[in-house]
Amino acid sequence: MFNPDTLSLFKNTETPFYFYDLQLLNQTLIACKKAADKFGFHVHYALKANFNQKILDAVFQQGFGADCVSGNEVKAAIKTGFNPEKVVFAGVGKSDREINEALDLDIFCFNAESVQELEVINILAGKKNKIARIALRINPNVDALTHKYITTGLEENKFGINQWELAACVNAFKECKYLEFMGIHFHIGSQITNLDVFKSLCIKANEIHQWFNERGFQLKILNVGGGLGVDYHHPDENPIVDFDSYFQIFDKFLERKPGQEIHFELGRALVAHCGSLISRVLYVKNGLKKNFLILDAGMTELMRPALYQAYHMIERLNGYQMSEIGSQISDLKSQASNLLSPTSNLQPPITKYDVVGPICESTDCFGKEVELPQTKRGDLIAVRTAGAYGEVMASGYNLRDRVKFLYLQ
Ligand code: LLP
Repeated sequence: MFNPDTLSLFKNTETPFYFYDLQLLNQTLIACKKAADKFGFHVHYALKANFNQKILDAVFQQGFGADCVSGNEVKAAIKTGFNPEKVVFAGVGKSDREINEALDLDIFCFNAESVQELEVINILAGKKNKIARIALRINPNVDALTHKYITTGLEENKFGINQWELAACVNAFKECKYLEFMGIHFHIGSQITNLDVFKSLCIKANEIHQWFNERGFQLKILNVGGGLGVDYHHPDENPIVDFDSYFQIFDKFLERKPGQEIHFELGRALVAHCGSLISRVLYVKNGLKKNFLILDAGMTELMRPALYQAYHMIERLNGYQMSEIGSQISDLKSQASNLLSPTSNLQPPITKYDVVGPICESTDCFGKEVELPQTKRGDLIAVRTAGAYGEVMASGYNLRDRVKFLYLQ
């Protein structure tokens, strides 16, 4: 992933920073668009995964819509150039101000998450004499088979409208004259790698779709959310997700009527692999039981490992250096047995490290027992596949500096 030019750029850049490979991003976006277009599917990019302006610009240029979860994300999408007709606004707790702003911007659709929210949107739209387009976010009670902290489609989760409340929604649509019922929306979780989960979602969506049809509602859109996972363990072998297989599941199992639009809200699958967090080793601490690499980046820059025990591949970037080889050659000279196969020993020895950040929290750890070539102060470390839910979840805890960026155009 990192060629010598990129590495020499890294060496002269202050750390920590996010590195975004915009070439890989564009290849990923093109692959996704091509696969979706084959079936006439519409993809809205979930801004929450990464709203770095260069990323938004690239996503917009490739013709995606925008899936937003706050008023500020809606405004960022419109400012980037996304047509309001391609902007949807989801979120379990939209404030009155956010709803008003989205109404003023004439966005395509609100994904409403409760009966009370329907009533509030109706009142606010009425005051402006506008019609708000609505998709109902329904909790389908389908297990995403992913980490429990990023599962959203089970009845125990706060998201969406439960199925026993659908009758109340139907009544609300009859009474609320400033709402236009557009369709149904689901999002069952994130980092889903078992595609059978999406088949289960389709089957459940078909039942709910049918339920509405039986009550005389013809739905214009079926929105199946996002959630497609990426390979955190092999970012170089699988840098672009298999979008074809993913969309094929929906083409095969999701029943759609003529003229009906199928919408997706992908985040991670589009941006995760293009980003890495680049950091320098501040200190190496060798203990009796453990060795620690203390980096200048921590959970304030990339929170996922601390928050979800998430795995990210960690690499030492220097390659092996002449000084290391020199010292090993002198070792070899003094060890006659090693001279029989000198080349096999020209790599720095592999050592196990707990790779940690500088923050005053024990969970500030990027990886435990990570095997790396022996590492020293000043070496560069890459934490890979950090393009999704990395920079956007950064915090100012410990009054840290804001994380910086470097782009490969
Ligand atoms: N649509 C809705 C309604 C969502 O809530 C989400 C993500 C998406 C779409 C996009 O999902 P994706 O395609 O990226 O899986 N911070 C966590 C992930 C939280 C996901 C929240 N919702 C992480 O770092 O793993």
